[in-house]
Amino acid sequence: MTDAIGYERIGDIAVLKAQNPPVNALGYDVRVGLMEGIARAEDEGAKAVLIYGEGNTYFAGADIREFGQPPKSPGLPEVCDRIEASPLLVVSSMHGTALGGGLEVALSTHYRIAVPTARVGLPEVLLGILPGAGGTQRLPRVAGVEAALDLITTGRHIRADEALKLGIIDRIEDGAPREIGLAYTKELLDQNAPRRPVSEMEAPEPVDFDAVHDSVLKKGRGQISPATAVRAVQAATELPFAEGMKRERELFMELMNTDQRQGLIHAFFSERAVSKLPELKGVEPRRLAAIGVIGGGTMGAGIATAALLSGLTVTLLEMSPEAAEAAKGRIKGNLQGALKRGKIDQANFETLTEKSLTLATDYDALKDADLVIEAVFEEMDVKKKVFTQLDAVCKPGAVLATNTSYLDVNEIAAMTKRPQDVIGLHFFSPAHVMKLLEVVVADETAPDVVATGFALGKRLGKISVRAGVCDGFIGNRILSTYRTAADHMILDGASPYQIDKALEDFGFAMGPFAVADLAGLDIGWAVRKRKRAEGLDPRARDSAYADKLCEDGHFGQKTGKGYYDYAAGPRSRVPNPDVMPLIEAERAEQGITPREFTDEEIVRRYMAAMVNESAKVVGEGIARRPLDVDMTLLFGYGFPRYRGGPLKWADLEGLPGLLDDIRSWAKEDPYFWEPAPLLEKLVAEGRTFDDLNKEAAA
Ligand code: 3HC
Ligand code: NAI
Repeated sequence: MTDAIGYERIGDIAVLKAQNPPVNALGYDVRVGLMEGIARAEDEGAKAVLIYGEGNTYFAGADIREFGQPPKSPGLPEVCDRIEASPLLVVSSMHGTALGGGLEVALSTHYRIAVPTARVGLPEVLLGILPGAGGTQRLPRVAGVEAALDLITTGRHIRADEALKLGIIDRIEDGAPREIGLAYTKELLDQNAPRRPVSEMEAPEPVDFDAVHDSVLKKGRGQISPATAVRAVQAATELPFAEGMKRERELFMELMNTDQRQGLIHAFFSERAVSKLPELKGVEPRRLAAIGVIGGGTMGAGIATAALLSGLTVTLLEMSPEAAEAAKGRIKGNLQGALKRGKIDQANFETLTEKSLTLATDYDALKDADLVIEAVFEEMDVKKKVFTQLDAVCKPGAVLATNTSYLDVNEIAAMTKRPQDVIGLHFFSPAHVMKLLEVVVADETAPDVVATGFALGKRLGKISVRAGVCDGFIGNRILSTYRTAADHMILDGASPYQIDKALEDFGFAMGPFAVADLAGLDIGWAVRKRKRAEGLDPRARDSAYADKLCEDGHFGQKTGKGYYDYAAGPRSRVPNPDVMPLIEAERAEQGITPREFTDEEIVRRYMAAMVNESAKVVGEGIARRPLDVDMTLLFGYGFPRYRGGPLKWADLEGLPGLLDDIRSWAKEDPYFWEPAPLLEKLVAEGRTFDDLNKEAAA
């Protein structure tokens, strides 16, 4: 027997215990262990087999690290068939999560018991594949087609009570999985309960699969695995079980060979690797219980909301009692949303707003705070004053953080006598919803302050990414470049509407002009004014048509008009008829003859600009690894998860071809399209961005 499955005999029952930490993934050793365990139980004359998991969980699924490697027999479908076909009575006892292949193993056993906290699901589509060990054939037979389609196409996890109602589990019992499993198995043996192979159950009733397929495809914004999974479930209704399994396998292998599968698996592992920094190994974060927030506008109120929801106490400092009350109103509004969604109850709501939150206008109120986050106006002078005051009142060791979007954190830190305690914590709007947090490390920031930034991110349920100091850090710096690429295409002949459509078809949640309307066109206007005041490089192309929109008072959704007209509400945008004439006038003024762009060229230029700037950001050490850029774009900028991030996309697309395009465009505009040295180096060495991720992990 392998060590991955323990074997124990209790009377007539052979007990197979999964012991493959941390999540009992069904890797090769576990599969072999299950095959051997079943065979041994049969050879030794046991009457029943109980399968359960040691540690935190039953099997959490196939071992994702094996994907893309040559398959090693026995495969999981074979293991499931072997379990189901055993003449012994086979029972699963589940705790933790029974996900993917884990639930497929459970569905191959004849009876299933679970603890109340157990969760089950088939999340394969979230990894770009579909359940490939009988899940698409067995689940519809057990729970019906409708429930199976829901679970398989969304990948959502359900609680034991819902699983019981759907017939996925037979009983819920509190206790240790081994003990409740043994008692249940004994009971079944005493009752002479029959084996109950799901494959022998009747085929489920069909539904209108074409309609479901099309609607799932549309919802997936270009992601194919959920729609493909619909066809596998369809096979369960149309084909005998063995034929259905064959169809499932074909579709599974098709998906296994897609770039989308690679993108999603990259996202899965990068999401977990992003907060693991070698520099933080063994570094303890500082104490984090009471925090201060300065400025209770859009961001300050959002940050305070997130902090309150995570159980921290918050002192919010504003310029006047009226402004503080207004900030409290915004926080209450945010918390009301959480109340409506059932994340908190009325009693929590009262505690959070009346006990955990304190309003202040005097800096003395911040003297006991463990960490203070400043979210005042984006003006260096204002920020400098705030940090001078914080330095005067905060206790020694308090972390002093700025939420600035672009400003120099070193310059802000220099206002204090404790630059080692100063850090950037760049949240995204709305801060209590968006998952991304850039932890901006300045020249003198102490390691335990960085660790505290990451600890705060974890506590707030954020994906935290380490960034260095530069204009815009990782995300906004890259955004500014790909936005510029879009602006250039507009000058040269594309329309904002064609660009948005092409990029939404590529998978972005929203195109760049719809995003600008949502964020407020005044933000970009302010940045352009600042950059012009600092002095634009004479080689940079500039345009003024967007300023004219702002001068006319059109700031996007909040004023009802921007690139689009929102007269019928924020979700029903139509092009604003004033925009194209402004663009045409600008082209005429600059002497540009507009040309046609294909959607393909739009995507290529936009993505190449994004990749080139990302490579500069990594090359300069602003992001430590390519995956840090990928996670920033995924969690803060609506980048399609199934493409993995811009640098994963670049690897899959081929770096030499991208560099060729960049070089050819550099002939027209050498300033904008200057190739990133890191991209040139990787191409010259025949390596990829993922090679850099692997080197960093080694
Ligand atoms: N294979 C390999 N490693 C896995 C894994 C898996 N299925 N699931 C989790 N891990 C690893 C993680 O990468 C992490 O490793 P690290 O410590 O080196 O970073 C470690 O296990 C712990 O994982 P988490 O940090 O995510 O732990 P949590 O307790 O927060 O979450 C979980 C546990 C809910 C099980 C979560 O890890 C999860 O959702 N895992 C993926 C589950 C899944 O997608 N299963 C389906 C797989 S596909 C399949 O089964 C195909 C089949 O149909 C043929
Ligand atoms: P906002 O204008 O909505 O809020 C700023 C708040 O700060 C106002 O309520 C104001 O009364 C208060 N304030 C100003 N000076 C103060 C002082 N000296 N002391 C106490 N309070 C003071 O601005 P917003 O959008 O919340 O931005 C705040 C910061 O967050 C800026 O640095 C901005 O760049 C950054 N940011 C903004 C994002 C956004 O999408 N709005 C996203 C990420 C960061």
